[in-house]
Amino acid sequence: MITFQKDTDRELFASTLVFAKKQIRALIEQHPDFYPMYTMEGRWKHRGESWTHWCDGFLPGMMWIVYAHEHLDKEPMETAAWWRAQAIRYSTPLEPRKLDRTVHDLGFIFISTYARWHGVTPDPSLKAVLVDAGRTMALRFKEKGEYLRSFVAEESLFIDIMMNVGIIFYAALETGDARLMDVAMRHCLTSRRVLVRGDGSSAHEAIFDLETGQCLRQATHQGYRGDSCWSRGLAWALYGFGTAYVYSRDPRFLATAEACADFYIANSPPDGVAPWDFDAPLESRMLLDTSAAAITASGLFQLSGLCVDPVKGAFYADCGRHIMRTLCEKHLGQSPGWEGILKGGVYHIHKNLGVNESVMWGEYFFLEALSWLLRQP
Ligand code: GLY
Repeated sequence: MITFQKDTDRELFASTLVFAKKQIRALIEQHPDFYPMYTMEGRWKHRGESWTHWCDGFLPGMMWIVYAHEHLDKEPMETAAWWRAQAIRYSTPLEPRKLDRTVHDLGFIFISTYARWHGVTPDPSLKAVLVDAGRTMALRFKEKGEYLRSFVAEESLFIDIMMNVGIIFYAALETGDARLMDVAMRHCLTSRRVLVRGDGSSAHEAIFDLETGQCLRQATHQGYRGDSCWSRGLAWALYGFGTAYVYSRDPRFLATAEACADFYIANSPPDGVAPWDFDAPLESRMLLDTSAAAITASGLFQLSGLCVDPVKGAFYADCGRHIMRTLCEKHLGQSPGWEGILKGGVYHIHKNLGVNESVMWGEYFFLEALSWLLRQP
């Protein structure tokens, strides 16, 4: 169970932002135009396998977050302009991926980049990229079973897709296309039914019968077992159902996000950083996933603004702040030569990819959460 005393830790969060900016700037300068995924012994540039191609939005997304801060902090104009130029330089090459049908990650790629870009510079051509990406994502929909299929197989649904269905909601609302809204809603309802359990824990994957649309079983790729709770999957669920509620205002999605948050809070150690899987066997129980903690913190901050009960909302924000304090105090990549911001992420334990390393989505959601904290009065 997460336990904490209230305090603000503003200095800690502000100095961590300075450190994060230094690490991102070094990455841009040392490996220009490189889009990393995870480190090997703390180094971004290597020949490690990627399994799937889903992370390219996170680095430019961080540049957009920093750019927004440079504005807020009234940094010299040329500093803000430099970050904006980098963000555009790294975002623009992603545009062709709006038609990429090989991955289920177009939300990760475009919400972090074009949506942030459009947020600071409203421009119809940027919005058109987001709408196209939403339309491409919707092509993954399986009428039988009512889900967006994962990249691995037609019969496979991943909890991770809850973080990407937002791009379909966005396209539906921008275009008024009822079919897109219907696809997004049905995907979320199916995910809620077959991937989130009664205790608020989540499964990574569901396998369907393609003939009948029947859900046959829960399974996993990156978690411990089909019936376990992979901690990053739970973080995706918490954040993704909160986002589905933002777009749809369907109270079932808010209730699901809260159930996932309550499971995370009740089953994590007091400092708020959970093991890579909540049901991990003893031999790997000490292995944490800081990326799951960072995603959870940011998801809790979103949820805190959605809760009907303000006391509950404040509690979620306090839990998120406590997780962030732990990450800043214990898990920063401050050892000599370490290139990432946050140590201790886990990408794919069974393939031995990015285990106890910095991972690009951990960096992104950590920075997003930090940015939220520093914007609070
Ligand atoms: N593929 C998404 C994840 O590793 O969480």
